[in-house]
Amino acid sequence: MLSNVKSMSLHGLEGYVVNVQVDVSAGIPYWEIVGLPDISVRESKERVRSAIKNSGYELQSRRIVVNLAPANTKKEGSFFDLPIAIGVLICMGEIQNLDLENTVFIGELSLDGKINSVNGVLPMCIEAKKLGIKKVIIPKENAKEAAIINGIEVVGVERLQDVVFYLNKQLEILPSKMNIEEIFTSENKYNLDFSEVKGQENIKRALEIAAAGSHNCLLIGSPGSGKTMMAKRIPTILPDLTFEESLEITKIHSIAGILSKDIPLITSRPFRAPHHTISSSSLVGGGRIPKPGEISLAHYGVLFLDELPEFNKNVLEVMRGPLEDKNISISRVNASLTYPCNFMFIASMNPCPCGYYGSKEKECNCTPQMISKYMNKISGPLLDRIDIQIEVTPVKYQKLNSEDTIETSKEIKERVNKARKIQIERYKEEKIYSNSDLTPKLIEKYCRLDKESNYILQAAFERLGLSARAYGRILKVARTIADLQGKENIDKTHIAEAIQYRSLDKKYWKN
Ligand SMILES: Nc1ncnc2c1ncn2[C@@H]1O[C@H](COP(=O)(O)OP(=O)(O)OP(=O)(O)O)[C@@H](O)[C@H]1O
Ligand SMILES: [Mg+2]
Ligand SMILES: [Zn+2]
Repeated sequence: MLSNVKSMSLHGLEGYVVNVQVDVSAGIPYWEIVGLPDISVRESKERVRSAIKNSGYELQSRRIVVNLAPANTKKEGSFFDLPIAIGVLICMGEIQNLDLENTVFIGELSLDGKINSVNGVLPMCIEAKKLGIKKVIIPKENAKEAAIINGIEVVGVERLQDVVFYLNKQLEILPSKMNIEEIFTSENKYNLDFSEVKGQENIKRALEIAAAGSHNCLLIGSPGSGKTMMAKRIPTILPDLTFEESLEITKIHSIAGILSKDIPLITSRPFRAPHHTISSSSLVGGGRIPKPGEISLAHYGVLFLDELPEFNKNVLEVMRGPLEDKNISISRVNASLTYPCNFMFIASMNPCPCGYYGSKEKECNCTPQMISKYMNKISGPLLDRIDIQIEVTPVKYQKLNSEDTIETSKEIKERVNKARKIQIERYKEEKIYSNSDLTPKLIEKYCRLDKESNYILQAAFERLGLSARAYGRILKVARTIADLQGKENIDKTHIAEAIQYRSLDKKYWKN
């Protein structure tokens, strides 16, 4: 007998339907899966066989052929276990309800018949709904995640036998529901706040500018000066996520399998801080069963590389393309797939190997050669993509001890939001969203300087010996400073401030 059961698979962030066709006949035991399955799918045979047997169904002397259609795309992962098992059980006459045209099955089986959670359920179910599927039967552990989609019935199941009973109408399983509105609008999404950072007004100002124009940013300072502390608070001053952004981030985290089982919608901007020993495939994505890397997990949020010079230079190199393109292509055997990665890049570093170059507290004991070797660890092309470079000095004791009220992240965010709105309005015909996206041609159009500003910039170039690459960066940052003030034109104060944020182009580090 022949059966046809629907399942889903993924290509990048997009789901597509897979038809699981099963043919069971009497004969010498034989089991084959066709339709470009990779090893992970072929292993499915053993799990499905044991799960069926251990759920109390007899599988002896059967010839089983499974076809996964469409046959031209490679099938990866273990989520076809459940649909294959259901297909086999239909053919064996164990399931009577055959009205499964609008139902999708996703799930991995244990040998004992338990149904295990799988990654990527959310994007698969979103696509299923688009295609008119009415019901998804998925692992119970993934049920809340799928229930954030409106208009599709989500049935979470724990054991293979329960699915058989449910389909035969001998067992009732209530559909899973989530109140998405409530989760999405819940206040206090971050448990950090800039009001915890004492003093450091100039650094907070620089980070406000970075947030307002979505500028990449490098913090340089001695140990304990608060670089990590401040970087962690950047998401709290970025504009609130829209529901669409929230859903897109959640899809990526679903594929990576790192969603919270209870509150499976990500409502705050991600902050990802991978360790400096990270491999390039963990950073940008990949692997046998492809997974998004840290740059995609940071989508619409912040990627923070703490101690930048400690990262492997080759690993940093692979990040250059995606930083520019805001998406990453991962090549596969038969095709390539794309994950989005539109993140704000924040990095931190010490000024020298000992950490105290230029510090007033401690003397630096590094030689000029050591310092220049340390600086050379970060590649020029990567530094090229950083708009704002600031030196962080430790907070003064008086400030640390003071009782003054400090501005909250919410107050800073209001100014950031205003400046972002101005940019969105200004660039609506240009297909860009923020000043950091300005191309050289657009810089010419939107960052015109008056005579005085031009003079200041020219003087800075001559006096500080700024590089050509600094030029565009300064103009973009000046544009954001003007936007924060609600000014249409860039003036000399904006340019003068923007020049301050080129620490690495100045002074000692140049060779
Ligand atoms: N401005 C500040 N206000 C309040 N606490 C601060 C401030 N600066 C530093 N601290 C305290 O000092 C700790 C160390 O700061 P942090 O880890 O951010 O320093 P760092 O610059 O990242 O140092 P390292 O180079 O060693 O990584 C913080 O966790 C915080 O408790
Ligand atoms: Mg640190
Ligand atoms: Zn030193």
